Order: sequence, then C-alpha cells, then structure tokens
Amino acid sequence: MVHHHRYNLLKKGGDEEAGTLLFLYYRRRRPNLLSVLFLSLLSCTFILAPRLFSASSSLSHLCSFGVQNEGFVGNIDVNAPLCSSIPNGRICCDRSHFRSDICFMKGDVRTHSPSSSVFLYSSKSNNGFISYVSSMIDDGEQEEHDELQHERIKPYTRKWEPSIMDTIDELDLISKRANLGVHHPCDLIHNVPAVIFSTGGYTGNLYHEFNDGIMPLYITSQHFNKKVVFFILDYRNWWVIKYGDIISHLSDHPVIDFIGDNRTHCFTEAIIGLRIHDELTVDSSLMRSNESIVDFRNLLDRAYWPRIRGLIQEEEQETVDKKMSTSPTSGSVFDYQARKPKLVILSRNGSRAIMNENSLVKTSEEMGFQVQVLRPERTTELAKIYRSLNSSDVMIGVHGAAMTHFLFMKPGSVLIQVIPLGTEWAAETYYGEPARKLGLKYIGYKIKGRESSLFDEYDKDDPVLRNPSSFTKKGWEYTKKIYLEDQTVRLELRRFGKRLARAYYCITGIHPQSSLE
Ligand SMILES: *[C@@H]1O[C@H](CO)[C@@H](O)[C@H](O)[C@H]1NC(C)=O
Ligand SMILES: *[C@@H]1O[C@H](CO)[C@@H](O)[C@H](O)[C@H]1NC(C)=O
Ligand SMILES: *[C@@H]1O[C@H](CO)[C@@H](O)[C@H](O)[C@H]1NC(C)=O
Ligand SMILES: *[C@@H]1O[C@H](CO)[C@@H](O)[C@H](O)[C@H]1NC(C)=O
Repeated sequence: MVHHHRYNLLKKGGDEEAGTLLFLYYRRRRPNLLSVLFLSLLSCTFILAPRLFSASSSLSHLCSFGVQNEGFVGNIDVNAPLCSSIPNGRICCDRSHFRSDICFMKGDVRTHSPSSSVFLYSSKSNNGFISYVSSMIDDGEQEEHDELQHERIKPYTRKWEPSIMDTIDELDLISKRANLGVHHPCDLIHNVPAVIFSTGGYTGNLYHEFNDGIMPLYITSQHFNKKVVFFILDYRNWWVIKYGDIISHLSDHPVIDFIGDNRTHCFTEAIIGLRIHDELTVDSSLMRSNESIVDFRNLLDRAYWPRIRGLIQEEEQETVDKKMSTSPTSGSVFDYQARKPKLVILSRNGSRAIMNENSLVKTSEEMGFQVQVLRPERTTELAKIYRSLNSSDVMIGVHGAAMTHFLFMKPGSVLIQVIPLGTEWAAETYYGEPARKLGLKYIGYKIKGRESSLFDEYDKDDPVLRNPSSFTKKGWEYTKKIYLEDQTVRLELRRFGKRLARAYYCITGIHPQSSLE
C-alpha cells in the first residue's frame, strides 16, 4: 500500500525533490513544544544552574529524537527476494519492485557488447528443462529460433519514471542452446560473478548518485566480499574516479565499460540491475546478513580512510616544515578550539542560499560552536568532505541534493535541515527520515513565510505563501519553478537559535552560554 502510494507520488516528480504532497507531512510538530519546554528549562537554569548541569540526564528528553531504527521484526522467508536461488542455465528476472528490475543469470554466461547482449548457453544436461521453456517461447523471428529465453532490462533504479528510463541503455539477456549456432569464444574468463548496472540517468546529482547508484550497488553486491566484477552501462569516467574509493571497497577488480569494452567476458554468474530499498537507506531486514545503513556508512569510513590518512600526513609534514623555517609559537588556535563542538554549514549560493549566512556563523560561534562553512563543488573530493563531516557534531543545510552529505555524519550527531516553503514533503522523505534511520538527531526547521525571499515577491495573502500545497500538489514543475529555483532564505536567528541551542545541548549536555536574547 505504502509503496503504491509512493509510486504515485514519485511518478509526478522527476528530480530528487519530487512531488510535494503534504498529507504525508505528519511529523515534527514537536519542535514548537520543545522550544517552549526549552525556554522554561532555561529560566529554571538561572536558579538551579549548578545542579541542573550535573543532572543532565534528567533533561535527556530534550534530546530525544523519534524512531531511529525501523527494522522489521518480520519473518525472513516472507522477504526472501525472488530469484534468490536459481539453477544453472536459467535467467530469472525479478520485476516485482516498483523502483527497479533485476535479472540473474547462471551457467555459461558471455557478454557481447556490440549487440548490447549477455548470452547464456545452456548445456545438454538441462534438456528437459529447455524443452519446457522452449514450448513457452514464441518463435516469432526466424533468427531467434534457437533462443530459449529472452529478457530485456534497463539496469537503473528509477523504473517508475519513463522519461529518464528512456535515456538508459537497454540490455538483451538471451539464453540459447549451447550446441546450436556459433557461439562466441571467451576473451576473458572470470572466476567471480558480474554485476551490471547503469551510471546514466540522473547521475551528476549527488542525491541520485548515492540513492540510485552507490547504495543499490552496496545492497546488491556487498555479500560477494569484493569477489565481483562491475560492468557499467552509460559509463562515465568521472564517476569511476569520484567513487573509486568506494568501488574499490566493493570490488577487487577494475570496473569495465560494458559498451566500450567489446571483448567477450565469461562468467558463471551475472546480476543485471540493482536492488534498492528506499530513499537513501539500507533496510537490514532485506539484507542477507542484516547489514544496515550504519554498515554502509562504516564502508564509507573504511573507503575514505586511506586518503584522509594521506592528507593528515601531508599536513603534519607541512607543519613540521613550517616550524623549522619560522620561530615556533606555542599553542595553536586549533588547540583552544579542539573542545568546542564543531558545526558545519553546507553552503549554497544561488537558489536556496542562506542570505544571512555570515550572521548565522557569528551566532553559532557566540553560542560556543567551532564553525566551518563548507561549499562543496562538483569537483570537491568526497574524501575531504567526509573528513569535515565525520569530525563534526552538527550539520546545517538547506533542503536540496547536497543534504545527501548527511551520510557522512556520525550516528549520534545532529542534522538541522532548513525547509524552505513548499519543500516539506521532499525534505522529510528524502533526508529527514533517512537521517533518522542512520541514527542522526534530526531537526527540521520549517521556515516562516517572512524568512523566504518569496515574501518580497508576493503579496502576504498570496496562496504561494499562504498555501504552498495548493501548488506543490499540482506537480513537480510547480514545486520546481516556484519553490526550488527561485527561493532563498533569510533565517530569523532568534528563532533558529533555539534549534542551535538544542543541538548544542544534545552534543555537550550543557546549555550554551548565549542562546536566546
Ligand atoms: C573491438 O574494439 C577494437 C578497438 O576499439 C576494434 O579494433 C575491434 O575491431 C573491435 N572488435 C569487434 C569485434 O567489434
Ligand atoms: C539485526 O540487526 C539488528 C540491529 O542492527 C539487531 O538488533 C538484530 O538482532 C540483528 N538480527 C540478526 C538476525 O542478526
Ligand atoms: C571518523 O571519525 C571517527 C571518530 O572520530 C574516527 O575513529 C575515524 O577514523 C574517522 N574516519 C575517517 C575516515 O577519518
Ligand atoms: C556560486 O559560486 C560559484 C563558485 O564560487 C560561482 O561561479 C557562481 O557564479 C555562484 N553563483 C551565484 C548564483 O552566485
């Protein structure tokens, strides 16, 4: 039911911030209540300060954040995926999921890139089975008369969006009798399985790169323990470079451009397409060994560590060099700041920028945070961003694809998402809920009309301001045009400061010095 629901919703959208329907927006009414609570606690603090600070556990409800793990307690068999075990000589396609198809081939599997095909040659021992399958096949075309089974698949995880699927390369999966026709000889024989997927579609947008590609790849292939070869359709070299750290922790073998490499690769097992669970998550109840989103993040940590260690060593070397050339000074600035909780602001310019970002930095610093403003570019190394966020306690960002970086935050840290007008559903679905599943303390900050740049453009009674859902429910184009492309925010720091103070308290267990005027 839920999936059907989503299917219809997602169909409307095209991008990561797809259709916005408010009836799904039912959470996060609590912040207001909590701020009131917080205010009253703050006033108590004046009188009871010393005692309250030490008895921080009594305040722990201030820092309780919804459900963190929604794993099913279900029966594993109920969730056992289709095609999870197939006999040799079979192609089995699971087309039951609304987000993606996935096919499995077992036996004598050979790639044939000039015809965008993967062949499966059936041996004689399967004859009984073959005649059964043959009888079910419509031998329409003369040339294909020796085909036992023919499947077509576009190995991309957004099956419900025809417009983007139209841009994805399709593969033909064909099983044939081994003793018929000329079958092409192997150029390379692999003793590990193949996983074939596309890096086309919305690749180029960080949310999609993780949601549609990297996480499904993890879900589909991690149980092979790197004993797997990846074949990529709609191959992009920059993608292979950008995600190289992660890829090399999922596969011991170099990736192969399916279309660009016309050699015949031979396997005994191939998976075409990727499984996907939900928005930016790994549902442990659907994994063979119960892996969760936290395990995925642990993989990121291992993947980025070698590069980060390298960066640290370079910096240490530079420090040593500097000390030798200049007179040593005692105690660097960083030593003093080391104990402050660290806050990262993911900065955007253009649409959905925070216009008073400098004031936000100042307010946060006054509250006791060590602040870093991060402005990731398309070319910024993910390892460097990971390093910043992995060492942070709080991340602030405005709703948009860059929020995907929440995956780099440690469980237990705080994520504050600024939610511009008209983006509530998308903010909750694509980032809020997944962040909670990762174990982040998630705070959604829904802006007031007067904090939006749209406030200057429309009359204060205009439905654009008063009733965004009346537009967003009309479809993605409206959301995009009115609320995503043209909106910037100017945070009311007095109001936003309450969220900051809450974050500070959650991290440190003590109240910030200057929280509210
Ligand atoms: C495979 O590719 C190479 C180099 O691009 C080319 O020389 C060769 O003719 C191709 N072979 C086939 C069978 O297409
Ligand atoms: C799966 O993981 C969850 C939490 O990560 C844990 O509580 C549960 O016991 C695990 N189940 C199995 C079968 O390992
Ligand atoms: C991330 O932070 C944790 C905890 O501080 C640390 O143990 C780990 O090494 C860090 N990971 C990387 C890749 O730097
Ligand atoms: C955003 O920043 C980039 C690089 O810093 C700059 O090239 C671009 O013009 C900026 N865009 C806007 C709308 O300010």
